[in-house]
Amino acid sequence: MFSELKPLPTDPILGLMAAYKQDTNPNKIDLGVGVYKDEQGDTPVLRAVKKAEAFRLENEKTKSYIGLAGNLDFCHKMESLLLGEHSALLANRVRTAQTPGGTGALRVAAEFIKRCNTNATVWVTTPTWANHISLFEAAGLQVKEYPYYDYENKGLLFDEMIAALKQVPKGDIVLLHACCHNPSGMDLNAEQWQVVADLAKEVGFTPLIDIAYQGFGASLDQDAYGLRLLADTVEELIICSSCSKNFGLYRERVGACTLISKDAAVADISNSVLLSVVRSIYSMPPAHGADIVNIILSSSELTQMWHEELDEMRTRINGLRTLIKDSLAAKGVAQDFSFIDKQNGMFSFLGINKEQIDRLQKGYGIYIVGSSRVNVAGISQANINYFADAVADVLK
Ligand code: LMR
Repeated sequence: MFSELKPLPTDPILGLMAAYKQDTNPNKIDLGVGVYKDEQGDTPVLRAVKKAEAFRLENEKTKSYIGLAGNLDFCHKMESLLLGEHSALLANRVRTAQTPGGTGALRVAAEFIKRCNTNATVWVTTPTWANHISLFEAAGLQVKEYPYYDYENKGLLFDEMIAALKQVPKGDIVLLHACCHNPSGMDLNAEQWQVVADLAKEVGFTPLIDIAYQGFGASLDQDAYGLRLLADTVEELIICSSCSKNFGLYRERVGACTLISKDAAVADISNSVLLSVVRSIYSMPPAHGADIVNIILSSSELTQMWHEELDEMRTRINGLRTLIKDSLAAKGVAQDFSFIDKQNGMFSFLGINKEQIDRLQKGYGIYIVGSSRVNVAGISQANINYFADAVADVLK
């Protein structure tokens, strides 16, 4: 049976991690996978996480199962983080399951959508995170795309996006990135979110919000603006969240799938289906990472420490955006890279072609995703000059 299989290409993002590790170039730079890095190029465990882990080690009472929805205190804390003061108002309509990372949340959401409507199509932005399409298709859902990023002008194709969303059939799902759009870094502004929210209500599609970078854009609250607006506007909403980046808990796999239903009765039914989906895929989520988040968010001291660390990460990324723009301009490159400074989160497209991407990798050991997506956080004061020289060279 196995010998009938055909080999598949490596994952466009994770494959780069492996290639980077093998590269012996002492100047190599990893701008591939979306992982925050500090000035030394490390992805350290946050101080608040370390403290919470020490506390957990001392106080953990059992390793018995935690149940299908995971840690319920964590689930409620996530609802507050995502919905802010709206979470209390919406409480009887909101149900959350802790999931193995944001990807786990998306897969659970996909299976849940299939139970609601086997014929539903999921509409995703062009472009979107490399894993979105295969993830939904693997769950047996159809995927279609709607215009989003304007490659030419490095902005949004907002009118085209709205024209496409007007044609989405009622009952389909529209996936929206809450903030720090992956891979383009281009986000909707407040007025644009309003247009999308009004449209969702008018057309009758169900928004699915992917929020994997809350706190990396403007602030924890501002990054949830669109999500909260939708929660106030539509009857049904699906939210897939991740604690990988903002808590730096990548390998612990911490995320959540949150459903907002039209009333408490439907919320209970939806929750029973959600939990049955969980049971049939992985039975229940791992405990450690979600406990850490819960411990941090239960302590004002640790929450403050986490806020400070999150601010540090965001400030560093924003500073790097300016540094990249200025350094490329200083090298005299003809192309205008000022858009990098206007986008949000860890990613932007450099807007260079496949051959140039290849030359960066083979000639300089600079690893960026094949779409030209760069993880801004991989730049540092130590490597910016090398990076800017290399980009200037391949653009010549
Ligand atoms: C990314 O986009 O690089 C991250 O979300 C990591 C991943 O799993 O692809």
